[in-house]
Amino acid sequence: LKVGLLFGGCSGEHEVSINSAIAIAQALTTDENQSRYELLPFYIQKDGVWSDPAISQKVLESNTPSQLEAPLASSEAHRRWQFPSAVGDVDVWFPVLHGPNGEDGTVQGLLTLMQVPFVGSGVLSAAIGMDKIAMKQLFAQVGLPQVNYMAVTRSQIWSDPCVYTQLCDQIEATLSYPCFVKPANLGSSVGISKVRNRSQLETALDSAATYDRRIIVETGVVAREVECAVLGNDQPKASTVGEITYQSDFYDYETKYTVGKADWSIPAALPTAVAEQIQEMAIRAFTAIDGAGLARVDFFYVESTQEILINEVNTLPGFTATSMYPQLWAAAGISFAELVHQLIQFAIA
Ligand code: ADP
Ligand code: DAL
Ligand code: MG
Repeated sequence: LKVGLLFGGCSGEHEVSINSAIAIAQALTTDENQSRYELLPFYIQKDGVWSDPAISQKVLESNTPSQLEAPLASSEAHRRWQFPSAVGDVDVWFPVLHGPNGEDGTVQGLLTLMQVPFVGSGVLSAAIGMDKIAMKQLFAQVGLPQVNYMAVTRSQIWSDPCVYTQLCDQIEATLSYPCFVKPANLGSSVGISKVRNRSQLETALDSAATYDRRIIVETGVVAREVECAVLGNDQPKASTVGEITYQSDFYDYETKYTVGKADWSIPAALPTAVAEQIQEMAIRAFTAIDGAGLARVDFFYVESTQEILINEVNTLPGFTATSMYPQLWAAAGISFAELVHQLIQFAIA
């Protein structure tokens, strides 16, 4: 089977995607997987232009974003957009795109139109899993406990001062400090701020609005951060639970991607009943969004009250050899190469 590995992409998580793709490409070249699959890499430049397998292979080898010609403004980029001819050879796609324009249902829509199977969530689940507001509304409907939040739009933030003041008053009254301001559709903590007063709130809202027209503000909780991996389609399985610890103020981009800034424990040191409840909630969240293939479901565990709050579902979680998702399955005896094989099999099932 020819596996089309789709990576890079028009997203603030472009570099993360290259790293995930390098690991998956390597997994496809183990002896066992080489007898099953042929790798066809397709790198999507930051401006959205697709590269052919030869150029894409170089990006995988150099781990460096490439831009063949000067990037075009987003209103012009479509003029250069075309499929490399090798797209027609792909039997199954493995989109390894994190964030908008890849993890959000857009690419899933394109691959659905191509009528070629692909790894991971379909349009609906990818879109819901990407949008923190839609996701939280759905979680509320299936009774998953979560932090208090407010949905805000860019137009409210960039409106006249009177509306803006009212908005900030309302956020303070509803959520109090500290709170977290986030673009609704992003990942890897890009564009997220933790704010403790009015002036920080205003700066954070303004910054988040540059990333997305939908913004979410949440009450900040003091909690342990635990994650559970889900694998499968209609009978998904939950992995053991892992925990992330770090010294920084929160799990921001630098902490996530600088070696040594965050530590993991697999399994997390949790009472069995808590771990089991997290696994059950992870499956419930995956099913609620109609997930397929894979997802990593992230939680806050408030030790003082023993509350488990769902934070988010990531339908294309970080996938480097040292990322939490494959590590959680490694703890269950599923190697990285076997995991990649199983995901492709779930895609074509
Ligand atoms: P992303 O999709 O970018 O990973 P998250 O919603 O997971 O965004 O937020 C990133 C990090 O910010 C979390 O891992 C956590 O450290 C911190 N964080 C986010 N929301 C909250 C919250 N409501 N309370 C406490 N910490 C939070
Ligand atoms: N969005 C990053 C890749 C993650 O969730 O792991
Ligand atoms: Mg997160």
